[in-house]
Amino acid sequence: MIVSSNTEHLDLQFKTRPDKHSYSTKTTLNLRARPRSTSRLYALYSAEFTVVRIMTSVKETNGVANQDTNGLLEKTNPKSDTAELPAPDPNNPFSFPALTLPSGLLFNRVRVMKCPVKDDPVTHLKKIYDLPMRDDDIIITAYPKCGTHWVAEILHMLTSGATEFSGRTKEYTMLEFCNDLRFLATLTSPRLLNSHLYMAQLPRGIVDKKVKMVHMIRNPKDTAVSMYHHLKHTASEQFTFDNFLKGYPCGDYIVFSHQFDYLRQMAEFEKSHPDHPIMHIHYEDLKQDPAAIIKELSQFIETPASDDFCQRVAAACGFSNMRKVDSTREIPESLRKFSKKRLEIYRKGVVGDWKNHFTVAQSEAFDEFLAEQKQKGFGFTPRGEL
Ligand code: A3P
Repeated sequence: MIVSSNTEHLDLQFKTRPDKHSYSTKTTLNLRARPRSTSRLYALYSAEFTVVRIMTSVKETNGVANQDTNGLLEKTNPKSDTAELPAPDPNNPFSFPALTLPSGLLFNRVRVMKCPVKDDPVTHLKKIYDLPMRDDDIIITAYPKCGTHWVAEILHMLTSGATEFSGRTKEYTMLEFCNDLRFLATLTSPRLLNSHLYMAQLPRGIVDKKVKMVHMIRNPKDTAVSMYHHLKHTASEQFTFDNFLKGYPCGDYIVFSHQFDYLRQMAEFEKSHPDHPIMHIHYEDLKQDPAAIIKELSQFIETPASDDFCQRVAAACGFSNMRKVDSTREIPESLRKFSKKRLEIYRKGVVGDWKNHFTVAQSEAFDEFLAEQKQKGFGFTPRGEL
């Protein structure tokens, strides 16, 4: 709720869901500044859409913040906002219904991330939705921190037929970070695209053209640890792992929602599109036997590779090589303001690092969350202890 406001600042009290994970905190948002003082990436991923909503309502109401339309309602109680949306087609929720956007920050019932691109989030999403696709495109679709950079490099080597690293980071062809999507039309085929968006937000041409999808899955505790460190690079001192975990079940600090919402929607998509070519890769399997998965991947993308080449790709894309080469690659202009030089993707690259981070109490709390998710259905069951 808004505690007090003027055109420059809003004093806010956050209160998350009234369940065992709830917590509340107070903060002041400077409406004239971008929210970089708290944390740049953290703001990018979680708070910025809220700020945009608040700024909109302040503008709409001539400087008087409207409590009913402030963005925190979306954060604290997403259902209140989704209630305004038309129901998706019950027979086919992934049929890419026409766009109807009451607030501009939800798309087909999924939260929209404010991305650092020139267009506002809704315009950018509409452009993504209408993006012309090619028959031979390949798109990596995955929840963040599941190894998407790794598989992107592997795919680059498989499609180029050489163990030379791509000159560009994956973010250049990441739909939500692509400042001007027309850039993608200049790429030669086969294009390697990637996105963390939900299926209902991706180009409808993916379905029409049966574009090959590579979907990465990772153990949720390792994914959470990786996400925490990713955000921590740009977050303030106060952003502890404990804060992060408390917000995690409600979808705070992370893109759109939590991992199981992502996995469930992917499973739904697959169920409603049984003929769609999708290869699911578990991070842990790729780690255990990279050459075997790379071989399988080469067959999936119809660029069969010899065992020897797959071995060489596996070695070239090993963690330390990927980390080394990353420091030499440029990141897209749109991301430079959020990151000094690199995006800090290559941290440890191991399975089970969560054991070095979670206390017993944190692990038990997370297990309760996992048990709730299991009841709803995991969508895909990740590897490891669950
Ligand atoms: P950690 O933070 O656990 O180290 P994404 O690319 O989807 O953002 O995922 C990032 C995670 O994948 C990071 O995990 C990163 O270290 C790991 N990763 C990237 N390249 C890797 C590689 N070659 N081998 C193993 N893990 C890799």
